Amino acid sequence: MSRPPSSEEADHDARRSRQWLAGQAQGAGVARDDLLELGSAMAALTAAAAERDPVAVAPAPVGVDPGAPIAKPLLPELLRPLETNAEMRWDAMAGQGYVVPNDRFFVRNHTVTPRLDARAWRLRLFGTGLRDAPTRDAPVEFTLDELRRLPAEESTALLECAGNGRRYFADQQDDPAPGVAWDLGGVGVARWRGVRLGTVLRLAGLTDDAVDVMPEGLDPDYVTGGANLGRVRRPLPVAKALDDVLLAYEMNGEPLPADHGFPVRVVVPGWIGISSIKWVGPVEVSTTPLFSPWNTQFYRMFGPGHPVDGGVLGAQSVKSAFELAWDARVPADAEVLLHGRSWSGAGPIDRVEVDTGDGWRPAELVAADRGGPWQRWTAVWRPPARGRWTLRARATDVTGAGQPDRATHNDLGYLFDGVVRHPVTVV
Ligand code: MTE
Repeated sequence: MSRPPSSEEADHDARRSRQWLAGQAQGAGVARDDLLELGSAMAALTAAAAERDPVAVAPAPVGVDPGAPIAKPLLPELLRPLETNAEMRWDAMAGQGYVVPNDRFFVRNHTVTPRLDARAWRLRLFGTGLRDAPTRDAPVEFTLDELRRLPAEESTALLECAGNGRRYFADQQDDPAPGVAWDLGGVGVARWRGVRLGTVLRLAGLTDDAVDVMPEGLDPDYVTGGANLGRVRRPLPVAKALDDVLLAYEMNGEPLPADHGFPVRVVVPGWIGISSIKWVGPVEVSTTPLFSPWNTQFYRMFGPGHPVDGGVLGAQSVKSAFELAWDARVPADAEVLLHGRSWSGAGPIDRVEVDTGDGWRPAELVAADRGGPWQRWTAVWRPPARGRWTLRARATDVTGAGQPDRATHNDLGYLFDGVVRHPVTVV
């Protein structure tokens, strides 16, 4: 599946940012100045969050701790726990196919995985952008069975956390950024199946003057710095919502796992991971621009070289990873076939180079992956001697974007794109 032009997200974000700065953000009765003050934001957002519908909760499966932030087993050979999140281990991708199996797909939870009952679950659409402007209390509803009866589509799409690689701002550049210290495992590609959001919006009575759509998760409210920011939610422009966005109920041929949004999640191909709201319940459709802390305070570029109110966080950066453990042990006196993957938010990967200690040389690209959301590659290496070695890989996408030796810093540590120095020991 090809990705949409990444500039689309940047344009939308820039436009909303200008409106925000111009004080046009009154959607939830919250003025910009209030929201920029985290403390003042609390009251208004808590009030908005208080109006919501109850969440039906299913009993936890036998043998699983119902209070654990993540429902699936965190097998140490597959996943590395990071607070309420877990990242995929890159050595767990060795020998795997194009997609990341569900047992090792990374989990990014602001709070915890809710255990929802699919029979009680409803998608609830409301707002001024729908015919007769249904309210949050009397929305247009769809059951899971109703969604499943609509025409289904499949999409192989990449999901990546905007903070993926954040750890390397500290480890390689001595310039740490706060937030989850992802290695390179906050990314994955899956085969998603579901119904187009556009199909459902039209059935719900989308009006010609609707501009924004804001899906909201049914996980607990996100509380940070003493402020309750309400449920995780982030707006999309109607044009994107009608394009390639899915309401997915299957992942890699299985019902969507609890941690990845059961029973239904949004999948927004090409956009940063936060857009792909899991456990979606309410969906606001509006004739005026919508805002949330996830497109005003977070997921913006702050710091030197960026606008004071935060720069646009557009396409994901270019990255490359070896399918090897950190500090992997590699046999001496043998030819090793190194495997890896590269990806970019701005478009398919054009070329990949590796350096095993004697300069950059081209890697062999897997032809079948050309044009897809990520690119597998290989490179032959015969280690010249025992001891410690550093492996490096760097990619260039079709737009010409590549990977510098040193990533440009931003205060929240988003979009790391530097070349990672991967240590191995030849034994
Ligand atoms: N949706 C809800 N409701 N709550 C969340 O915490 N995290 C977002 C997004 N959707 C999140 C969410 C972020 S930051 C990312 S990167 C992706 O989900 C991660 O999806 P995954 O956990 O299925 O890998």
